[in-house]
Amino acid sequence: PTPLRVALLGCGVVGSQVARLLREQHDDLAARVGAPLDLVGIAVRDVDVPREGVDPALLTTDAEGLVARADIVVEVIGGLEPARSLLLRAIGCGASVVTANKALLAEDGPTLYAAADAAGVDVYFEAAVAGAIPIVRPVRESLAGDRVRRIVGIVNGTTNYVLDQMATERLDLDAAVAQAQALGYAEADPTADVEGYDAAAKAAILASLAFHMRVPLEDVHREGITAITAEDVTWAASTGHVVKLLAIAERTDDGVSVRVHPALVPTTHPLSGVRGAFNAVFVEAESAGELMFYGRGAGGAPTASAVLGDVVSAARNRVLGGRGPVESSYADLPVLPASAA
Ligand code: NDP
Ligand code: HSE
Repeated sequence: PTPLRVALLGCGVVGSQVARLLREQHDDLAARVGAPLDLVGIAVRDVDVPREGVDPALLTTDAEGLVARADIVVEVIGGLEPARSLLLRAIGCGASVVTANKALLAEDGPTLYAAADAAGVDVYFEAAVAGAIPIVRPVRESLAGDRVRRIVGIVNGTTNYVLDQMATERLDLDAAVAQAQALGYAEADPTADVEGYDAAAKAAILASLAFHMRVPLEDVHREGITAITAEDVTWAASTGHVVKLLAIAERTDDGVSVRVHPALVPTTHPLSGVRGAFNAVFVEAESAGELMFYGRGAGGAPTASAVLGDVVSAARNRVLGGRGPVESSYADLPVLPASAA
């Protein structure tokens, strides 16, 4: 069978692990897909940085040139630009795309979905919400025949780790954030984590999939954890609670409400036991009832696992001539009214 050419955009915390898995599992993946997945290049900013286990010959700063010679493009650069332009170029060149970029999807997902639909290629983004936890696919596909009522979860590993360290190690916020950065959990700018932007982006993505509507980021109520002090966390513990940053998306009488804010969770609630950079998401659907998803929400290898799952799906579709779920109709779907947020 003809090999599928995979281009990797970014070789940081996540990208380096994607490259490792593509290399270490090359033969297994070929058997699962029905064609070899050949990594043809890795776009980075600096090709001179030594990268363990990465063939330097694969590194390039010519990301535009790279995407034009790939069947599947994996974007793990992050941020809006150049990620958006590169993904649109990849789609325009007929490549299927996989991204972990929640900031971009929440800001401008419909542009990508519409372009992919016009080009007849896939856009997969399991890693964009809750790291290793399969949550995008269940909401996007498994529950597509149900009516989701509510999603409540811890969807940011950094803030969960930070709040946990504040409670158990008595660390202050800055020290705990520095640890989360060192462990590869935080965004390039950890403000996105601690101010709740990252969780808000994930909440918007989940809500748009669950409620079949566009959910503009500005309509997501957002409050981070920067105002939470070690004293707050200690006081919460003395009253039988833990402080958690929650993302909540629910149908209301008026429409849909999507919000992110710190909350006092009783120690008897399962969410209180979500430690470190783990995430947990509860989904309530009319017919399915209550569902619970739990696992590692951040970090290189866990996130790369979700990325690789998407690469396999996109590759199988290309081998078999099929397509994954299509979100192109988002352009025509109702937009969440600001008043309902
Ligand atoms: P890093 O900052 O560790 O890595 C970013 C990579 O992108 C680096 O290799 C960098 O190159 C490269 N890069 C940056 N700008 C450019 C550019 N203009 N052209 C080419 N390459 C560029 O980020 P992460 O791996 O942590 O995150 C990547 C994405 O995955 C983000 O969207 C993030 O939100 C998402 N994500 C991250 C998770 C995590 O736990 N870290 C979990 C889930 C999703 P260089 O190495 O030369 O600097
Ligand atoms: N910075 C993010 C987090 C990475 O801490 O959850 C995973 O999306």
